[in-house]
Amino acid sequence: VRIYVPCDAAALALGAERVASAIAEQIAARGLDAKIVRNGSRGMHWLEPLVEVEVAGKRIGYGPVKAKDVVSLFDAGLATGGDHPLCLGEVAELPFLKRQTRLTFARCGITDPLSLDDYEAHGGLAGLRRAVSMLPADVVKEVTDSGLRGRGGAGFPTGIKWKTVLDAPGERKYIVCNADEGDSGTFADRMIMEGDPFVLIEGMAIAGLATGATKGFIYTRSEYPHAIAAMSRAIDIARSAGILGTSVLGSGKTFDMEVRTGAGAYVCGEETALLNSLEGKRGIVRAKPPLPAHKGLFDCPTVINNVISLASVPVIMDKGAAYYRDFGLGRSRGTIPIQIAGNVKHGGLFETAFGISLGELIDDIAGGTASGRPVKAVQVGGPLGAYFPRALFDTPFDYESFAAKDGLIGHAGIVVFDESADMLKQARFAMEFCAVESCGKCTPCRIGSTRGVETADKIARGIEPEKNRELLADLCNTMKFGSLCALGGFTPYPVMSAMTHFPEDFVPTPLIEA
Ligand code: NAI
Ligand code: SF4
Repeated sequence: VRIYVPCDAAALALGAERVASAIAEQIAARGLDAKIVRNGSRGMHWLEPLVEVEVAGKRIGYGPVKAKDVVSLFDAGLATGGDHPLCLGEVAELPFLKRQTRLTFARCGITDPLSLDDYEAHGGLAGLRRAVSMLPADVVKEVTDSGLRGRGGAGFPTGIKWKTVLDAPGERKYIVCNADEGDSGTFADRMIMEGDPFVLIEGMAIAGLATGATKGFIYTRSEYPHAIAAMSRAIDIARSAGILGTSVLGSGKTFDMEVRTGAGAYVCGEETALLNSLEGKRGIVRAKPPLPAHKGLFDCPTVINNVISLASVPVIMDKGAAYYRDFGLGRSRGTIPIQIAGNVKHGGLFETAFGISLGELIDDIAGGTASGRPVKAVQVGGPLGAYFPRALFDTPFDYESFAAKDGLIGHAGIVVFDESADMLKQARFAMEFCAVESCGKCTPCRIGSTRGVETADKIARGIEPEKNRELLADLCNTMKFGSLCALGGFTPYPVMSAMTHFPEDFVPTPLIEA
């Protein structure tokens, strides 16, 4: 019998380690022939730690399990899928999972993240096997044809970025994976690195073969110790198995990689600040051009892609561009792993084809607010994303539809707020966040963000509120068009959306501290 207990950081934070120890004790005490497998998370956070048992080819789930529940679970016959108040039935049939289309996260939560056998048994390495037999330009074309766009947030076509690097002259080229997942309420990158690290390795190796890069770096943050450990271990395993090294899968082509850890500055997720940090310099934004694709890491042509972009490549190479682009709508093709967080009943990771409406995601899939109060606003796309009111809940989840409503889907994190949220406070927070995280290189962001906090405070204190509302809007305009990078350039999105959709909150309020 295989009993699955997640080793994902979210499950660990909720006591999965104690649950695993308690299960091991019961297996020993009862003399059972059972093995504990530490899997990744299925992404249903309200059920973590979610314990699963394989019975007759099906996985029966129990959750959320606490260590003190374990004896009663065994008394009820956990090892044979016995009934218990925590029993959820067959995990794959739970509506939150059943309604998903898992292409990128197909294995996450199902396999043992560090078992290469498990990875291959669930379709792993098929994409890389195909890629090694193809010409680089044909691999690039396949990725271009799939319609995959950058899942870090900007949505730039991945194949076109790869083609720029393939065509760029240079003896040495790099693949850099941006795993500096800094957006509040996002965790997709972490979940993949902890729950299915080989898929990222496979995606990076394909990127290397496609562009002529022989070395890859995963840049992540020290706040992700479990992801760093899982990735580093998986890289060692992949190297020993001949997936990385001087002859990738026996092809005679070289690709190797390593993990690099930053201290966790938000701006180091911006690609050029990330490159500086990776080179051992201070994380300050570089002016573009030159694009990293032309002159990136150590001035060499460099592909910089987000974890999810790279982790989506193996399924594209395995099943073909047409299969992938068949999902989605308009110019947003394939699937998007949406991270549902904040004040919701059912938070977690929901991978689906582009096009689902914001309202369906929040009211239906997430089950509304955890507090039971009406939803007031939803911030989509991290701390630099716009707040959407209920009136815009019919917006389909895709790059263009969100842009048309003055928003962005970004890295697809959504954070839900109930009616107790004060949107003036949220706007002030956006400016404060920018002031704290600004790299200081350009004036609109460095100075503007601090002036923005002061202006929000003046509105809250009732000091010339009308004039200061106009001033805040003017400041946002300057920051949006005058900032060098997305940090200063996108901070106006949460501020302006809060002001546009919730003007009633931009009045004197005693709630803001000076
Ligand atoms: P961008 O639009 O400047 O660039 C997008 C990407 O395309 C970059 O990698 C750029 O080098 C590349 N590119 C552009 N033109 C190209 C060409 N002709 N050939 C090859 N490559 C080309 O956007 P940026 O500043 O990189 O990202 C902004 C986004 O980052 C925002 O939309 C935001 O959603 C997202 N973001 C994500 C965070 C996260 O935690 N994942 C945190 C903060 C922001
Ligand atoms: Fe640095 Fe802010 Fe300017 Fe970006 S917008 S370069 S973070 S000062």
